[in-house]
Amino acid sequence: MAASKFARKLKSLITVSCSSGVLLGLLLYRENDEKFFSNFLMPTSRFLFSQKTCNKLALFFCKWNLLPRNDYVDSYRLTTNICGIELNNCIGLAAGFDRNGDAIKNLHKLGFSFIEIGTITPEPIEDELIKYVDDKIANNRYDSINKGIAYSVPKMRNLRRKEEYTGIIGFNIGKNSNSSFLKDISLGIKVYSPVANYITINIESEASTNPSEILKQKENLREVLTEVNKARLLFDIEKQRPIFLKLSPELTLNELKDIIEVTKEKNCKVHGFIISNTRLKEKKRNENPEGKYKAQAIENDENISLREKSTQMLKDVYKLTNGKSTLIGVGEITCGQDAYEKILAGASAVQIFSSFIDHGPPIINKIKRELNDLLQENGYENVKEAVGKEVKLENKGWFNFFRFR
Ligand SMILES: Cc1cc2nc3c(=O)[nH]c(=O)nc-3n(C[C@H](O)[C@H](O)[C@H](O)COP(=O)(O)O)c2cc1C
Repeated sequence: MAASKFARKLKSLITVSCSSGVLLGLLLYRENDEKFFSNFLMPTSRFLFSQKTCNKLALFFCKWNLLPRNDYVDSYRLTTNICGIELNNCIGLAAGFDRNGDAIKNLHKLGFSFIEIGTITPEPIEDELIKYVDDKIANNRYDSINKGIAYSVPKMRNLRRKEEYTGIIGFNIGKNSNSSFLKDISLGIKVYSPVANYITINIESEASTNPSEILKQKENLREVLTEVNKARLLFDIEKQRPIFLKLSPELTLNELKDIIEVTKEKNCKVHGFIISNTRLKEKKRNENPEGKYKAQAIENDENISLREKSTQMLKDVYKLTNGKSTLIGVGEITCGQDAYEKILAGASAVQIFSSFIDHGPPIINKIKRELNDLLQENGYENVKEAVGKEVKLENKGWFNFFRFR
């Protein structure tokens, strides 16, 4: 008798505790609580599910607007512009999260000022065609699944024309493994220019051959960029979108110099660089009997973090372009200080990816708040004043004066 009374009491105690826990969780979720997301929700999700499932769940929540409240008001200090595109703040979402543009509006609502969708290829990639193994950064599993042009183009046209949506969207385009780079990139520019604010060429998305060969061999890069420029110039001036080239963190300084040299040629122009992609050093990429490809990511020889490597690359490219090219910094940004360092290294804006997955939506406001404070402490009225401040340029005065951002 006493035992059953005790069991009943225990049961109600557990029920009350669980219900209060769930209610508290919902409240903290809705309030976009930094600690709740960082210390409980995201680690628990990672413990329960695979990285891929976590990414899918995060996208699902964004797509269906099951999002926390965002009351943060962007300050003037964080407003900027990239290639003439005005941004409410300098924080964007990097490519790879919303490949098909399913959650653009809600991602903007979370506080990103620009969303880069893709990498999108002309044909859908349904299967995990490429598998990378990276034992250091567990979440840096990289695949290229996307629904292709037939899915995304009508969706984007609808968003722009019917819904008259004006949020800033970049389209990151790549190629299918069984197709040619020139054909696919040119097609991407043609179909996305009417709906894009900018276009990113992601050479690393190439699945069939070693992508680095395009970036590393001047002749190949020249050919690709000439085609890019040809496709871009088919449009009237107001629909000629700025072109960004996304760079791999594994390029050497000499390779960077070659790339910049090519992009200075008349027909190979790009307007900016996104620095950098994930670190994937290929050990081997062999075709297996089913026609699939495998690649292995290994630790970078230099043994420095992606954050440091991509910041160093920003400085190199800023210097090599004499501060004249627009740079977007991306790579392990988890706080205001990381973003500030990228800006001092030459980035006009930054993007995040992994930290958004790891810490959830509150990370966006945290970065903004901390960056805003750092800029203020260092006497900057606006983030644009801080761009490249840590890089010594030759002829700095005149180049900076005429710089196009
Ligand atoms: C799971 C995953 C998928 C990604 N997919 C793409 C992609 O499709 N296209 C692309 O250009 N970059 C892709 N990236 C690279 C990111 O856009 C970003 O450049 C890189 O992860 C560094 O930023 P982070 O340290 O904030 O993650 C992906 C990265 C991750 C981790």
